[in-house]
Amino acid sequence: MGNPFAPPPKKTLARHLLFRTTALVAVVTFMLSALAAYASFNILENEVDLRLENAQIRMNFTKNWDMNGSEGPCSDSIIRIALTINGAAWQDNNCPERPTIDEVEAMASVPPGVASTVDAKGLGTYRILTQDGNISIDGQLIPARLILAIPYSEVLSPMRTQGIVLGILTLGAIGVAYVGTRQVVEHSFTGLKRLTETAQKISDLPLGDSETEVSLRADLSHDDPDSEVGRVGSAFNHMLDNIDEGLAARRESERKMRQFVADASHELRNPLASIRGYAELSRRDFDELPDTTKQALTRISSESERMSTLVDDLLLLARLDAAPDMAAQTKQPTDLTEIVLDAVSDARAAGPDHKWLLQVPDEPVIVPSVPGQLRQVLTNLLGNARTHTPAGTTVRTSLNVEPGSVVLHVLDDGPGIAPELQPKLFERFTRADEARARVPGNKSTGLGLAIVAAIVQAHHGQVSVTSQPGRTDFSVRLPLRSDGSQ
Ligand SMILES: Nc1ncnc2c1ncn2[C@@H]1O[C@H](COP(=O)(O)OP(=O)(O)OP(=O)(O)O)[C@@H](O)[C@H]1O
Ligand SMILES: [Mg+2]
Repeated sequence: MGNPFAPPPKKTLARHLLFRTTALVAVVTFMLSALAAYASFNILENEVDLRLENAQIRMNFTKNWDMNGSEGPCSDSIIRIALTINGAAWQDNNCPERPTIDEVEAMASVPPGVASTVDAKGLGTYRILTQDGNISIDGQLIPARLILAIPYSEVLSPMRTQGIVLGILTLGAIGVAYVGTRQVVEHSFTGLKRLTETAQKISDLPLGDSETEVSLRADLSHDDPDSEVGRVGSAFNHMLDNIDEGLAARRESERKMRQFVADASHELRNPLASIRGYAELSRRDFDELPDTTKQALTRISSESERMSTLVDDLLLLARLDAAPDMAAQTKQPTDLTEIVLDAVSDARAAGPDHKWLLQVPDEPVIVPSVPGQLRQVLTNLLGNARTHTPAGTTVRTSLNVEPGSVVLHVLDDGPGIAPELQPKLFERFTRADEARARVPGNKSTGLGLAIVAAIVQAHHGQVSVTSQPGRTDFSVRLPLRSDGSQ
């Protein structure tokens, strides 16, 4: 267990509850202590007043006070002083305190009949009761004011002790309230803490990815199902069940859709091959055919070719989607330098109007790869640099080995890619000019870069693009190890 006095983190409900409860206990304890002290004070003062009144009653029996005699022992700590109208004072001989005449006059200022507290200057504070009468001096009766005084310390001393005890009790109660509340709050919030931790872990999951499974649930075994935390916890787990079911349903529907695309593409391949075959066959007697038939056959041939490419691309994408980690099982060490050399050489042959520059390391750069797939990446990037830029454009292909990875750049000084197109460039069917893309003879499908992205992802790499007029740079980073670590 941690430090029982350490406060919970700032701004939490636990901290609020702890401090408010402790403050409430402190206020209540303080008020009770103050009330107890006030009551004790009154009781003590009343006792002193009662003693003064009793002493006065006892003295009244003697009518005239004989200050030379002993009116009573001073063991009751009551000072008895008589002050004559001439200003002479007599005191009961048995009492040790000897007030000066000034002090006696201060004491005598208390009106008769009501006990009051008086500061008798140097002598200290006294509770005083006065009465007017006569004193007998040498048989002669002289009018005088009788003063009965009890030191006020008889009220204050026990109050001081009681104050210390009450103070200790108040502090003790506040301390116990703090530690006790902290324990209770901590115990009550444990379930909520567990819920928060689970929610935190769930919120870190990539829920946008349909492959994600939400298998985590809040542990409710320690919470009463009828408690607030128990009810929130079970609602929370129910919500997670629903999310997980929703994701599973989405996964299943995506799987079915991918399967459909794969099946459809596969099924389309054979009839397409037949159409292309028959179109080729008809071309044997090409010269004897009327012009309109010639034209139609040429279109059938080119469109079926375009459709075959599209179907092949769709099939490849469907396969990469269905098993994104397929590459992990079938990867083989591949020399990327050789692939780059071959691809650039093919591009040079296909696009003699472009300028093709190449920079590769002298030694082979071996990366784990699925046969043919990295070649496809190069073919698509170089094909774009050729088909989407005007004649005379310079295309630089470079390969650089960095610690743990290899970086391939295909850079051209063509017109660049429109900024609004760049964020979705690697999505399927993204093309700069949709209208132009559909003109007869244009083989562009808008799948090339999507295939590049899917292949690079299957190889645990990253692909990115920066483009502005005069400079378009596609960069592919691939790890040198098959598990993707660098
Ligand atoms: N180097 C480039 N320069 C200018 N625009 C480019 C370049 N590379 C790609 N693009 C733009 O990006 C779009 C998408 O390219 P992508 O390769 O995905 O499809 P595509 O080339 O149109 O068709 P295909 O499926 O036949 O490759 C292209 O239509 C083109 O507008
Ligand atoms: Mg392309």
